[in-house]
Amino acid sequence: MKFPENFYWGTAASAYQVEGGIRNNWSEAGEKFDAGNACDHYNRYAEDFDLAKSMNNNAHRLSIEWARIEPVEGMFNQVEIEHYRNVLLALQKRGLEPFVTLYHWTYPVWFGEKGHWLNIGAPQYFARFVEKIVGEYKNLVKFWVTVNEPNIYTAHSFLRGNWPPFKKSFFVTQQVVRALIESHKQSYKLIHKIVPGAQVGIANNNTNFKGILKYFSDDYWNHQFFRAIEHHQDFLGLNYYFSNSIFDVVLRPREKSDLNWKIEPKGIYSVLKGLKRYNKPIYITENGLADARDEKRAKFIIDHLNWTHKAIAEGIDVRGYFYWSLLDNFEWDKGFEPRFGLVEVDYKTQKRIPRPSSKVYAEICKNNCIKI
Ligand code: BGC
Repeated sequence: MKFPENFYWGTAASAYQVEGGIRNNWSEAGEKFDAGNACDHYNRYAEDFDLAKSMNNNAHRLSIEWARIEPVEGMFNQVEIEHYRNVLLALQKRGLEPFVTLYHWTYPVWFGEKGHWLNIGAPQYFARFVEKIVGEYKNLVKFWVTVNEPNIYTAHSFLRGNWPPFKKSFFVTQQVVRALIESHKQSYKLIHKIVPGAQVGIANNNTNFKGILKYFSDDYWNHQFFRAIEHHQDFLGLNYYFSNSIFDVVLRPREKSDLNWKIEPKGIYSVLKGLKRYNKPIYITENGLADARDEKRAKFIIDHLNWTHKAIAEGIDVRGYFYWSLLDNFEWDKGFEPRFGLVEVDYKTQKRIPRPSSKVYAEICKNNCIKI
């Protein structure tokens, strides 16, 4: 099963989950939310990109930590700007096309003190950061993801209230939703002004709802953001992990990941079909599972790609796939226990140990094809 020519194959990560040494709204929220040294990717990115290269990847998704770039309001840290330039150059040197996320849920402490997304000026604060970053890296980056999973983020941080800043209100959630939509739109225009050929979108976490749930939840959860920014996006970023499980519906027993997430590869086909209405290129910006023993990962990837291939054959314009994640990393409120990596990280020594599934993924990427 061949994939389209020039298909992007990569892995995805976010700064806070891998870099280490970051002070932001999460690290300040208490010990449980402090990623500490994480994978020390800040110092080991070259070695890590070598691993991605050895898997025959031709792309990589990463995020830039706002709290590093603008630790004090309005003051940009030149050392950190040069750091990320070196990161991007390291990707370029290895032939890895960067997909850069600008907001993967973490922000500088000062932004939190100002009331974060509830501050009326939040989109402008964000735009100032975006303008700086895009101006600095305009010759190195074509693909920009403004906001990662606005639906998951708002649900955890403002509705369930189990992530910083721990709010629990539907009203507040909708206020933040509006602020994120506005921020995206402003960033979209800004990025296009600075980089005319840029490709800009968001990455949303779409769930495969079934039965009555599809009727009630599909529109709100899967389409609220994509629809709101419909005329301000060049591509759709799809993060797919599960069917229904976020709403805890009892389905027939299925294979599960270490996090008890039901594995349902066919779901990726259904959600891809659901995105056809936007008539835009799609990148699968995340797909993966926690599997410490690496027993299910290779099959998981093959099965999801199999269904992706079927969607492509039926006319869905999918142009890339990013496995989450290259390395084991800090899994937000769940800490370091869940193991999502194609490469195991021994956190005591920071040693990287590629898991067997990484060989399978490397073959797929090399051949641009899955053999079933
Ligand atoms: C997020 C990642 C997270 C992954 C696994 C996605 O919701 O974008 O940051 O680690 O899923 O839970």
